[in-house]
Amino acid sequence: MDPYTFDKTAAWMERAAKVIPGGIYGHFGPAPYVPVSAYPFFSDRAEGAYFWDVDGNRFIDYMCAYGPMIQGYRNPVVDAAYRAQMEKCDANSVCAPVMVELAEYLTDLIPAADWAFFAKNGADVTNLAVMTARAATGRKKIVAVKGGYHGTSPWMQGSGHHGVIEEDTANIIRIPWNDVEALERVVADNLGQVAGFISSPCHHPIFTDNELPAPHYWERVEALLRANGIVFIIDDVRAGFRLHMGGSCEHYGFRPDLICFCKAIGNGYPISALVGGDALRGDVSKVFHTGSYWYGAGPMAAALANLQELRRINGPRLLRETGELLAAGMVDAARSNGFDLRISGEPSMLYARITDDPTLEMQQRWCGECARRGVFLTSHHNWFVSTAHTRKDIEDTVAVCDEAFKAVRAFYGSGV
Ligand SMILES: Cc1ncc(COP(=O)(O)O)c(C=O)c1O
Repeated sequence: MDPYTFDKTAAWMERAAKVIPGGIYGHFGPAPYVPVSAYPFFSDRAEGAYFWDVDGNRFIDYMCAYGPMIQGYRNPVVDAAYRAQMEKCDANSVCAPVMVELAEYLTDLIPAADWAFFAKNGADVTNLAVMTARAATGRKKIVAVKGGYHGTSPWMQGSGHHGVIEEDTANIIRIPWNDVEALERVVADNLGQVAGFISSPCHHPIFTDNELPAPHYWERVEALLRANGIVFIIDDVRAGFRLHMGGSCEHYGFRPDLICFCKAIGNGYPISALVGGDALRGDVSKVFHTGSYWYGAGPMAAALANLQELRRINGPRLLRETGELLAAGMVDAARSNGFDLRISGEPSMLYARITDDPTLEMQQRWCGECARRGVFLTSHHNWFVSTAHTRKDIEDTVAVCDEAFKAVRAFYGSGV
């Protein structure tokens, strides 16, 4: 097969650059894609595990809209529920009952949840979680993990980032992942001042290996936070419903006070949720937090159907098996071409990296060669699998990876 070309993508990029600052902004922008000429930037349509770009190229998609697509694009069950609700009402002047039904479902599904609150984006609920921690404790400081991402609000970004002032991050203390001693030190040095600790359940930074919690890590963190009256916030925006239907904390065996969900909850329909226990019910209800589209009923109906279906098919187990198959196939393809591919993180959202490639140059070239052959991966971010990825998709993907490794070897010659 001849590698794909991206002429129409290039034409759309040119048009975009004239009317949209930066052409394409944020994580969809061209910045992390090297070589840029090997990637599509505009999609025409999507179905199941695939999308087709404006040049008509088909991709087996392992970015899954960066996490939301967990059961395949245009999933018939989820889309039917969405359409049925849209026939009745969506944005409205009052709430639709499906909001209560979804909250009831989540509080049944998630052991840590006695209530649920809905918004649109991940940052809406990570913000609400932090505001709730501050409201509940009357304290200012928030401890977070270095390299942990919680959205783009100023407090979530590093000082020195454009548009962020020192005061925005003055009360945020970052500690290394898996470092209970560092957390103990921060708590001792800031006695009675720490409102909350926010972290993803497993560590999924970009441009570097992902990490799982060390044995007893969460148990020790939970005990320390409880002993000091610090609100325990889990940011499950990316991992939520991939590891366990009851929240990733159930997979690892601990119990936070608040859990933030987004991404996979609605299989692509825009909705996020903060859930929590009774102890914070009064505090969260006093925090003023709302948005123009936060009551949209269509995405709520989609989320309800999506979660019911994921639970019915045991989505987390399926995703793990698919991820393990993908990882094993890719590692073999790498080895047979003389490369060492290191896999890290959870199988359903694994991070892969060619070792002995500190600048990621080879990794970027390899991901680009995969994209030019119909497998969409990025070189800097964890990938995602969905329940729509079949064994045949994985076999086809591994065959493409093999060809891509051969192309990388041909590019670098025997010097690799
Ligand atoms: C772990 C985590 N938290 C929060 C967010 C922010 O979500 P959003 O971009 O929907 O605001 C993201 C987005 O990638 C995320 O991965």
